[in-house]
Amino acid sequence: MNKIAVIPGDGIGPEVIEEGVKVLEALASSSELDFSFEYFNLGADHYLETGELVTEEVKSELAEFDAIYLGAVGDPRVEPGILEKGILLDLRFSFDQYVNLRPIKLLAEEFTPLKDKGAKDIDFVVVRENTEGLYSGAGGVLKKNTPDEVATQEMINTRKGVERVIRYAFEYVEQKEDAQKLTICDKRNVLTHAHGLWQRAFDQIAEEYPDVEADHMLVDAMTMKMVRNPEDFEVVVTCNMFGDIITDLGAELQGGMGLAVSGNINPEGVSMFEPVHGSAPDIAGQNIANPLAAILAAEMMVEVLGYDEEAAKIDAAIKKSLAENQTTADMGGELSTTEVGDYISSLL
Ligand code: NAD
Ligand code: IPM
Ligand code: MN
Repeated sequence: MNKIAVIPGDGIGPEVIEEGVKVLEALASSSELDFSFEYFNLGADHYLETGELVTEEVKSELAEFDAIYLGAVGDPRVEPGILEKGILLDLRFSFDQYVNLRPIKLLAEEFTPLKDKGAKDIDFVVVRENTEGLYSGAGGVLKKNTPDEVATQEMINTRKGVERVIRYAFEYVEQKEDAQKLTICDKRNVLTHAHGLWQRAFDQIAEEYPDVEADHMLVDAMTMKMVRNPEDFEVVVTCNMFGDIITDLGAELQGGMGLAVSGNINPEGVSMFEPVHGSAPDIAGQNIANPLAAILAAEMMVEVLGYDEEAAKIDAAIKKSLAENQTTADMGGELSTTEVGDYISSLL
């Protein structure tokens, strides 16, 4: 039995997660796999009712699960950052999910906005550092709301934190069948302290992996190259902030936010799987959100739990729904959120 903690969250979160759970249940009924789902009511409503984000008690409950499956948090009624930092980042940090794995993979040729690029060109993985950098929360505000106001936001890079994610990325390349190259994406020409540390750690660890080609891109050039020559990338390792930004760009290369998936991985602990997209308040409650990113997150969860064959079944079903236009409006289809979930489930 695989024990899954489900956090539907806000906006379209509950709508897309319901379809992901539906797909996992369909998978379970047609295979040896077994899941139990327990729901955690965290997000805007719970916060507005109780003032609570994630309590220590809830965290110790979550620690007992095999994986966490999350929709999205964020709500226009709540000041930006409260739910995002208080729930999502707190979970990533508390469970020390130091790798944020974000594959950029074109599943159906017609969905990339890039001219003359296809599935063989758009297929790489971003390994985003997920516990420090500009996300650490260090810094503060002085003389708030005065003309003398000062705000600092510190980028914290620890040797240990940087080394572990870089090592994970090298290992990932070694284990991935079709990858030989690891690209580090940074801004070492300006952030000489912070990204100097990344550079030194990368160069040192690269020596332990002589079979992996160690490559470097400055982040500004990286965004250019992702559009011009996405085929140049196989696995990319980068800091928290840059990883956030380049994976939204990557999402568009592979067909949009409705298809972008994110695994918050602690290789020794509890990992958390979610779509890259947010709570999309602009389309919430209309049953039109694309559930495929959440279903891809379910697929990644199944794979990380160790069931490659079953994950491949979900993958094939998603590809079929794209090929046959059984999709939501953002992908050019005419189905609702629930109809896409029903269709994928029926294929399983
Ligand atoms: P967003 O990803 O929610 O939406 C960006 C755009 O993409 C919107 O136009 C939206 O309608 C569209 N979109 C997103 N997901 C879609 C889907 N599945 N199907 C169809 N269209 C989709 O980003 P945003 O608008 O910048 O943020 C909204 C809220 O979500 C904010 O509060 C933000 O902090 C939060 N957020 C949360 C997470 C998370 O919990 N993982 C991630 C990103 C943003
Ligand atoms: C993401 C989101 C989060 C991030 C926000 C909501 C904190 O944008 O998962 O990409 O910046 O990591
Ligand atoms: Mn983001």
